[in-house]
Amino acid sequence: MGRVHARAARMAGATIAGVAGSRLEKAQEAGLGAARVFASGDELIESGEIDLVHICTPNHLHAPFVLKALSAGLAVVCEKPLAGDAMTAALMAGRAAEAGLVATVPFVYRFHAMVREARERVARGDIGRISLIQGSYLQDWLLRADDDNWRVDPELGGPSRTFADIGSHWCDLAEFVTADRIVSVCAQTAIVQSSRATNAPVVTEDVATVQFRTASGALGTLATSQVSPGRKNRLFLEISGTEASLAFDQEQPELLWVGDRSGSRTLMRDPAILSAAAQPYSPLPAGHPQGYHDCFDAFVADTYAALRGEHRDGLPVFADGARAAAICEAVLTSARTGGWTEC
Ligand SMILES: NC(=O)c1ccc[n+]([C@@H]2O[C@H](COP(=O)([O-])OP(=O)(O)OC[C@H]3O[C@@H](n4cnc5c(N)ncnc54)[C@H](O)[C@@H]3O)[C@@H](O)[C@H]2O)c1
Repeated sequence: MGRVHARAARMAGATIAGVAGSRLEKAQEAGLGAARVFASGDELIESGEIDLVHICTPNHLHAPFVLKALSAGLAVVCEKPLAGDAMTAALMAGRAAEAGLVATVPFVYRFHAMVREARERVARGDIGRISLIQGSYLQDWLLRADDDNWRVDPELGGPSRTFADIGSHWCDLAEFVTADRIVSVCAQTAIVQSSRATNAPVVTEDVATVQFRTASGALGTLATSQVSPGRKNRLFLEISGTEASLAFDQEQPELLWVGDRSGSRTLMRDPAILSAAAQPYSPLPAGHPQGYHDCFDAFVADTYAALRGEHRDGLPVFADGARAAAICEAVLTSARTGGWTEC
């Protein structure tokens, strides 16, 4: 993700003052167009040469680097999940708020133009009262027993894998689009590959399913998996209201499905038909597809605008990262205890 962040930072006009990696040689090798390579993350944070640091490390290093960076007065972009437990994530959000520093989390799917369009349509009442929120986030990159990654090791990835890694994105998006909050979850988790190449036995979930209730009384279901053959980053979100339904698929981000009793249609991103809320995230003419890089670039550009003191609607901040960590912890608790858990 360091490469994605560095590209977006450059696009937003930043100078990449320095880079650090797990080892000096790895940082030198990566380069990322930085003016300077630091021997460690700590040295980078303490250098006095940085305004904002992007933390794109494995998950267990997020909290220590964030807390150091905030203490040094630096603004922060920290990858999700902010922390492996809700209390640490809340502490990080609290420190950022106390320090008055910009601190954001790349829940970047918020920055697809058709997501902003869906959010606007929900906000202005087009779909009526929301009754059902459902969907999935499915991948297959950990399908086989010999597929492995640091995320599988709970010391590095945290106590939740699939849900923390991708369920967190889905929950953030669902709450963002609906302006509703998941208040209670009933979850199940399963390990499909009980041992993997370098991490045996596996203790974190390959699959998680969640039923939930929201503050407004809507019901929902979510399936997340890193072992669903053929699915890559299939984040699908469908919202049914009393008047209409909306559906968004992250792998087809130029499209928004809109359905009601008289029929359904699929809208293609087109600046000419989008609401004012979606327009800023639709810089290209219709028919020239935008994608993941564009929404990542928009997220970083909005973060840097916040650093200049400008307001940007829908910027995912540490409070949102802490919120995702609280839902994730509730999911694990529910799966362990077999009952409904508040979050
Ligand atoms: N927001 C998104 O869409 C999104 C997508 C993918 C990954 N992520 C998140 O990004 C983070 C990184 O994931 P990845 O897939 O890029 O992992 P990765 O293994 O490809 O990269 C991790 C990087 O961290 C560096 N690193 C390790 N220890 C370090 C240390 N002590 N100091 C400095 N650097 C160190 C490594 O050198 C490596 O470059 C994870 O938290 C993941 O959840 C977010």
